[in-house]
Amino acid sequence: MLLLAVETSCDDSAVAVLGQNGNVLAELVSTQMVHGGHGGVVPEIASRLHMTVLPGLIREVLEKSGTSLNSIDVLAATAGPGLTGSLLVGLSWTKAVAFALGKPFLGINHLSAHLHIHYSSPVVFPAVALLVSGGHTLIFHMTSWSDCTLLGTTRDDAAGEAFDKTAKLIGLGYPGGKIIDNLARHGNPDAVALPSPMGNKRLPEFSFSGLKTAARLVWEAGDVSKEDLSASFRKTVCGLLVSKTMYQAGKLGATSVLVAGGVSANSLLRSEFLLECDKRNIKLFLPPVQYSTDNAVMVGRAALSALESDPSAHSTASCNTFARWHAEKLSPLSC
Ligand code: KG4
Ligand code: ZN
Repeated sequence: MLLLAVETSCDDSAVAVLGQNGNVLAELVSTQMVHGGHGGVVPEIASRLHMTVLPGLIREVLEKSGTSLNSIDVLAATAGPGLTGSLLVGLSWTKAVAFALGKPFLGINHLSAHLHIHYSSPVVFPAVALLVSGGHTLIFHMTSWSDCTLLGTTRDDAAGEAFDKTAKLIGLGYPGGKIIDNLARHGNPDAVALPSPMGNKRLPEFSFSGLKTAARLVWEAGDVSKEDLSASFRKTVCGLLVSKTMYQAGKLGATSVLVAGGVSANSLLRSEFLLECDKRNIKLFLPPVQYSTDNAVMVGRAALSALESDPSAHSTASCNTFARWHAEKLSPLSC
């Protein structure tokens, strides 16, 4: 079986052709660099660029994989959550082509897709999963790929958003997570004592807005280097993410911990999870760095997971985009 997956939820246009087991035959990601100059993603520019880039990317990925639209068996696209204009480009294209060719179409939840980057790995359940991206900070309890329950989220900013806003504040570029991560390698993580809001590890909830304000006040006081502030900020955020996830893993008797989303590219977060999971003999699943951020491979694997649970799973023509996700259970198929 061949599957074509499309992801356009924010500022990356991504396409992939996967085989039956989630193996990647070809994939492409086109990242919109223009937003850096605006200090954040401009939704109208993002959707226009998806429209310009997507047809060529699809042509190229089919060529690279040695397939054609006619040989594709199933098509899948991200339906949400994300920016409506951006989502509409990928979802409408994929839906239209699937229906024109008379092939099944699946509208995929972007959050579930991030977790499904690990779908082809030997995950042993029960698992606790941390999804940390520019828009979300979520902890889940999973007893299987089709049973994923939300344990807690952030009350304000997402972890990636906190990285991005703090980077902007100290005059670094956008997106700032990677830049802070790189600068932090040359700084002293104990240089600045930042607060750990909602620091009780038993609470699977986060709050990063106060931390960002504390970083701003330290920066405005003027006697700290970018490197030291980056290192202290990174240490505080990673400390919160790791301690809360590991506490839930212990409490729920998890045999695996899954980490996904853009912030899972963070080098300190990765090394701390490695250390903590190793201590407790828990299997850790970290995505390769290029699959931490948005990509279409994860969308394709989420579609395969939905099809494994129900081989006749598909979305109808009324499957629409959605900007936000609020529910207790997370499923790969969104509509
Ligand atoms: O998953 P993603 O590509 O898009 C969303 O669905 O939001 O995540 C993007 C986020 C941005 O906030 C970016 O700053 C953050 O991931 N990020 C990082 C790193 N690389 C990307 N944050 C911390 N450290 C990194 N190395
Ligand atoms: Zn994402």
